Amino acid sequence: MDTILSGIRPTGHLHLGNYFGAVTNFLKMQHENRCYFFIADYHSLTTHPNPADLHSNVVNVLSEYLACGLDPEVATLYIQSDLPETAELYLFLNMIAYVGELERTTSFKEKVRQQPDNVNAGLLTYAVLMAADILIHRAHKVPVGKDQEQHLEMARNFATRFNNLYKTEYFPLPTAYNFGNDLVKVPGLDGTGKMGKSDGNGIYLIDDAETIRKKVMRATTDSGPTQANQEMPETIQNIFTIMKLVSKTDTVQYFTDKYNDCTIRYGDMKKQLAEDIVLFTTPIREKIHQISSDADYLRKVAKLGAEKAHENASKTIKEVRNIIGFKAF
Ligand code: TRP
Repeated sequence: MDTILSGIRPTGHLHLGNYFGAVTNFLKMQHENRCYFFIADYHSLTTHPNPADLHSNVVNVLSEYLACGLDPEVATLYIQSDLPETAELYLFLNMIAYVGELERTTSFKEKVRQQPDNVNAGLLTYAVLMAADILIHRAHKVPVGKDQEQHLEMARNFATRFNNLYKTEYFPLPTAYNFGNDLVKVPGLDGTGKMGKSDGNGIYLIDDAETIRKKVMRATTDSGPTQANQEMPETIQNIFTIMKLVSKTDTVQYFTDKYNDCTIRYGDMKKQLAEDIVLFTTPIREKIHQISSDADYLRKVAKLGAEKAHENASKTIKEVRNIIGFKAF
């Protein structure tokens, strides 16, 4: 059985794009593979968050993923900083990572531009830490977006280099896992591109009904079709795409017919869409609030995840130490 691993940055809230694009795939995968999902709080230190924010961000993402249905009994769901074996492997991998290749990493160069006052060594070795996350569980598949592919390639390079240096085949080479046809791209509300974090473009699972209604009513449309069965411009297609995810087939058909015979009123469609989104997200939102205020439950989840992750990671570290030549006296 393949081992799948993915790290989640503890920044921001989940929106519908994350939900339909990634989370639903995680929910499926957890039953079909050995899955490790963790919250990458070590990584977040590169920007020096204040201690209170760091913790509440971790609580937020953990609560949101749990509310969506990630099952801590099925998948291994843990906090990166609960697994110090990762830090030890990171130290070992730093010995085989070259400064030149790290300096050439696209994400590093971007950070140097964005935060010239804080070009810390953690930023430089970001990809090494990410490789440690993956290799500590000897994962085979890593679901990541396009922006992470270079990091994944570096993880493969470090694994290969380690294997060659110590004449072993210990680390499998992790590959990107992009869900094939299952990948759903959710468009944003501002008419272009995919749903993201920019203002008004995304609907968060945590948004209340009023906020959702306001955002949907402001979604970009046009002056309406003038000819029967006219092709839909992107902005209108986008609204239909979102509707297909949350509304009943009948509802989508109703508005498609109205578009095709030019009697559609976008205001009505948006009202309907807003209500369907509210229906869809309300149970999740209520669960997020319930979970995030249940410290006992969160503690249990984190403890279980740390135990399960530790079981596998400590085995890896023991074997790696042995391969490197650290032997017990
Ligand atoms: N770098 C990833 C991101 O920014 C998060 C991450 C950290 C990760 N470690 C990982 C993803 C290991 C996959 C595997 O989204």
